[in-house]
Amino acid sequence: MAHGGPRLGHVPGRGCWVSENDLDRLLEIAVTAAREAGRMLVQKRPPGRVQVLDTKSSPTDAVTAMDRASEELITERIRAVRPQDGFLGEEGASSAGDSGVRWVIDPIDGTVNYLYDLPEWAVSIAAEVDGEIRVGVVLIPPRGEEYTAILGGGAARGGEPIRCAPPPPLDQALVATGFGYSAARRAVQAEVLRGVITQVRDVRRGGSCAADLCSLACGRVDAYYERGPQYWDYAAAGLIAREAGARVGGLHGRPPSPDLVLAAPPGLFHDLHDLLATLDPERDA
Ligand code: IPD
Ligand code: CA
Ligand code: CA
Repeated sequence: MAHGGPRLGHVPGRGCWVSENDLDRLLEIAVTAAREAGRMLVQKRPPGRVQVLDTKSSPTDAVTAMDRASEELITERIRAVRPQDGFLGEEGASSAGDSGVRWVIDPIDGTVNYLYDLPEWAVSIAAEVDGEIRVGVVLIPPRGEEYTAILGGGAARGGEPIRCAPPPPLDQALVATGFGYSAARRAVQAEVLRGVITQVRDVRRGGSCAADLCSLACGRVDAYYERGPQYWDYAAAGLIAREAGARVGGLHGRPPSPDLVLAAPPGLFHDLHDLLATLDPERDA
């Protein structure tokens, strides 16, 4: 393999031993790929709002193509230096690998924002080692913000450490959330939102799960919850939020999952959890 520093020692069936240097190197690879994808996405995006309802060779196709192009670029760059690794990407990258490392990629999180030229979209790349997320980067190109974390090593924005804001009481909390794409899911999400919005300071819907979790990590919102995010949406940003002091989980002690992702500093997590639990948010109409 072409990368420098100590290698990941992997003995099949006996797990993968990693040193801090290895994780630094994995993060460096992720950051390099995310930056290149981010540059490509900014440069190749047509100016203004992309019309969605055009014909086949329309900008809608172009956006789908951009999602795929971003994922291809990222997987190619990583594969060039780590050919033994596995991949899981939203746009279809899926391979097991045999190094113990798997990359989890959302090539554009917040595709609708990208389509409408709203600044809240991100490139998200995480690396699992033996099934556990150890490093993550979320790059938000329109804002020029790059969030990173290494498990146990804290979270940073632009290389500077970040922390969640001290948790306010629930009725003072600014809570980010998101909605799925299907009407059946949204019907319940609207019902749950009705139960939440009267109990908190206010609610924000940014349009990118990864960016929402990074906003939590740097104190721009106090909490985040959503039914429906996929693993690639929260793999990197969930680590970033955790390393910034948030608890990231599901209902009733479960881990975060597409059923529900809830994230907040511990005290607020508890209160928002108990409110959400009464609203039965893990269902569709
Ligand atoms: C979506 C965004 C959005 C969230 C959806 C996700 P995509 O990802 O993260 O904020 O509400 O649940 O699917 O489709 O833009 O990659
Ligand atoms: Ca996504
Ligand atoms: Ca996506």
